[in-house]
Amino acid sequence: MSGELEKILEKIDGQLALAFSHQAEDAAALDLLLQCGQGIRGRLEVFTLDTRKLFPETVAYHKTIEEFFKITIKIYRPAEAEVEKLEKALGDEWGMRDSLENRRLCCDVRKVVPLGEALHGKNAWITGMRAAQAVTRAGLALLEWDEKNQLIKLNPLCRWTDEELDAYIKARGIPLHPLYGESFKSIGCSPCTRAVLEGEDIRAGRWWWEDPSQKECGLHRRPRPGAGQGAHL
Ligand code: ADX
Ligand code: SF4
Repeated sequence: MSGELEKILEKIDGQLALAFSHQAEDAAALDLLLQCGQGIRGRLEVFTLDTRKLFPETVAYHKTIEEFFKITIKIYRPAEAEVEKLEKALGDEWGMRDSLENRRLCCDVRKVVPLGEALHGKNAWITGMRAAQAVTRAGLALLEWDEKNQLIKLNPLCRWTDEELDAYIKARGIPLHPLYGESFKSIGCSPCTRAVLEGEDIRAGRWWWEDPSQKECGLHRRPRPGAGQGAHL
């Protein structure tokens, strides 16, 4: 995969950004990217969106990854004033669970707006998304055009199965987020993520009170099936 990725990246000029959410997919994507030639470190920003609602384990793992890959992960956060307004609008600290509207408002303020800031000045961004993760991601393509943010989006793991991801992480000896060891299978903000039971879907622990067709935070606006959004270089 890193050979294919390297060929794609050779055709993209300018700055690249990897959206790093501290999940296994992102660690694998980062590992693949760092194998794409000497020049990659000079034009790749690895960034994370710190929603101010992350698990303490995520904050600790952040350092583990920085040390393992010898990189610095740039942190983008929502503005304090916007968070204050949001908290008033939601009523209490669990207000994002009261309605889809509240949850989307919270994701907008804490994730989507900071993402816009992170992508400013970049030519392409890279994610750890996989089609196998969710019904909302079934049509995911390796290369997409991100209409909202007006840049190329690359999903190098788009066709990877759960087993392929596990095997890659093990073979490369990459350290994993400690919550995977406590039955978490997908990891986001603490109020909206829980461990899953044996046999439950990998994203069953994300926004578990919502219908699976609604479970996207707005970072990844997907076209309706069949609408076609692939990009070609
Ligand atoms: S989400 O939309 O439900 O939150 P998910 O957790 O599956 O998405 O992550 C999909 C990809 O989005 C990750 O592999 C990563 O590239 C990006 N992403 C999600 N959350 C963040 C975050 N907090 N910071 C940076 N990137 C993120
Ligand atoms: Fe807010 Fe939950 Fe979205 Fe995090 S995942 S930004 S806490 S609604």
